[in-house]
Amino acid sequence: MSTLSEQIKRRRTFAIISHPDAGKTTLTEKFLLYGGAIQLAGSVKGKKTARHAVSDWMEIEKQRGISVTSSVMQFEYDGYCINILDTPGHQDFSEDTYRTLMAADSAVMVIDAAKGIEPQTRKLFKVCAMRDIPIFTFINKLDREARNPFDLLEELEQEFGIGTYPINWPIGCGVDFKGVFDREKREILAFNEFHNGQNKLKTIQCDITDTERLDELLGPYQRASLVDDIELLDGASYEFDLEKIRHGKLSPVFFGSALTNFGVETFLENFLKMTTPPLPRRCEEGEIDPFDEDFSAFVFKIQANMNKNHRDRIAFMRICSGKFEKDTEYLHVQQGKKIKLSQPQQMLAENREIISEAYAGDIIGVFDPGIFSIGDTICAPKSKVRFEGIPTFAPEHFAAIEQVDTLKRKQFVKGITQIAQEGAIQIFTEPGGGMERVIVGVVGVLQFEVLEYRLKNEYNVAIRREDLPYSYIRWLADPAVEPKSLNLTSDTKWVQDLKGNNLLIFVSEWNIQWAKDKNEGLQLMDFNRG
Ligand code: G4P
Repeated sequence: MSTLSEQIKRRRTFAIISHPDAGKTTLTEKFLLYGGAIQLAGSVKGKKTARHAVSDWMEIEKQRGISVTSSVMQFEYDGYCINILDTPGHQDFSEDTYRTLMAADSAVMVIDAAKGIEPQTRKLFKVCAMRDIPIFTFINKLDREARNPFDLLEELEQEFGIGTYPINWPIGCGVDFKGVFDREKREILAFNEFHNGQNKLKTIQCDITDTERLDELLGPYQRASLVDDIELLDGASYEFDLEKIRHGKLSPVFFGSALTNFGVETFLENFLKMTTPPLPRRCEEGEIDPFDEDFSAFVFKIQANMNKNHRDRIAFMRICSGKFEKDTEYLHVQQGKKIKLSQPQQMLAENREIISEAYAGDIIGVFDPGIFSIGDTICAPKSKVRFEGIPTFAPEHFAAIEQVDTLKRKQFVKGITQIAQEGAIQIFTEPGGGMERVIVGVVGVLQFEVLEYRLKNEYNVAIRREDLPYSYIRWLADPAVEPKSLNLTSDTKWVQDLKGNNLLIFVSEWNIQWAKDKNEGLQLMDFNRG
C-alpha cells in the first residue's frame, strides 16, 4: 500500500489542446497505447464507420445532436498515474473547453507543422496563460511537408509572448524526414517508417562533430543543415530553465509525428519529468496543499444527459487535496449541506468505472441530482475551504430566442434558466423586454443546437431562433452610466444580465473603439472574469 503522499506525487494532470486536425486525438491514442490502456492503434479514433473515439466518447451523443463535452482519461505509465483532459474542437467548442483548462496543472499544445498557430490554439493558449500554467508544445506531422522549424518557434514566441526551448530538432521533413536530434543527449533518433507504430525507434548515438558518420546517415546536405541549425540554436535560443517552464514562461518544444509514432515516447518521458505533481490551489482562505489529508475538490463541468435512458447530470470535479473515499460524507460548501457523492466514476480509456477512491490530481464524475453549480467546492466537513470561482468566459455568438407556443412560457423560462445555471449558455434580456425574447450568448455555435434540442426534449418547448451578428461583449464598468445616453453605432446592442447589469454587444472590435472614442471616460470591461 502506498501512502497518500506517494499516490499524489505520481499524479500528472494535463489538458491536451489544439486546433482541430492538428493531431490531438492521434497523440492521445499513442499515449494510451504506451500506457497499455488500449491495445489497438485506431481505437481512440476509429475509422469513420466502426468504433467511436475514446477521447471523443461523446460521439454517440453527437449523433443525437447534443455533444458538448470534454472527456477525461486516466492511465498508468512508468509509475506515473496520468489524467488527460481532452478539450473538444470543431464546433463542439464551448465554455466547457475553457473550463477544462481550470482543472489541469499543465497543457500539451499540439501544432500542425505545416500550419503553425491556428485560431483555436490561440484562444486556448490565452486561457492557459491566464493561469500561468506550463505549456508543452508538440509540433506534429513532420512526416509531411512542414514549415521551417525556426519560423514556427518565432511564431510561438511572437504571438504568445513566451520563450521556447526545443528539446529536440527535426532533421528534414516529409519524404526527407530522417529523425530528430536530441539536444540533451546529443544523439540522433532515427525515423524508421517501417516500425508500424509500435516498435521502439532506432537511436543512433552520433556526435554532431562526427562528419563522416553523419554524412553516412543523413547525406552531406542534411548533415550540413543540421550542424548549422544546432549551432544557431545553441547560440541563440533560450536557456533551459525548469522554473520558467513550470510557470508557463518557457515552453519546451518537441518535434515528431503522432501518426507514425515518432517522438511520442520521448515526448511523454520528458514531459512527465518536467511537469509537476498536483499543484496547490487558490481558495478564499489562501492555498490548499494537495498533500493535505483532508479531501477537497471543485466542480468544473456539469454535463447533462450522458445516459440516454436517464436524464441525469454528471458533475465533474477536480480533486485538489487528500483522498476521496466512496460512501464518505462530505460538505457541499455552497449549499452548506453534507452529502455523499453517488456513483463516483472515472474514465479509463473506453470505460467508465465506478471507483472507491481517488487522489488529489484526479478527476471524478459524480451523479448530480441538480445540486451542483460550476465552481462549487466539496470538501471534508471539518476543512470548510471554498475554492475561487471559475471564470466566466465571454460568449462569441449570440442569438435571440423565443418560444413558439406562448402558453409554454413557464417551461421556456425554467428550461433556459436551468441550462444557463449549468453553464452551457449565458442569457441576457433586452431592457424592458422581459423573458419573452431572450438573448443567448455561447462560446461555440453548436451550443445553440444543443439548447434547441434540450428545450424540446427535456422541457417540451419548441423555440424560434434568430442568429444575431454580434461577436463581442463588454460590461459597463460604471453602474451609474445610463446606456441610453451613450453615443453608439446603430449596430451596437444594449442588453442586461439576469441581475440587471448593463452590457453592450458589438459586431466588431472597431465598434468597441468607436464607443470609447465617442463617449469620453467610458469604461468597458472585458467579460472574462475570475
Ligand atoms: P485532432 O484530434 O486534433 O482533430 O486531429 P486527429 O488526431 O484526428 O488528426 C487529424 C488528421 O491528421 C487525421 O487524418 C490523422 O490521421 C492525421 N494525423 C495526425 N497526426 C499525424 C501525423 O503525425 N502525420 C500525418 N501525416 N498525419 C497525421 P484523417 O485522414 O483526417 O483521419 P483518419 O482517416 O486518419 O482517421
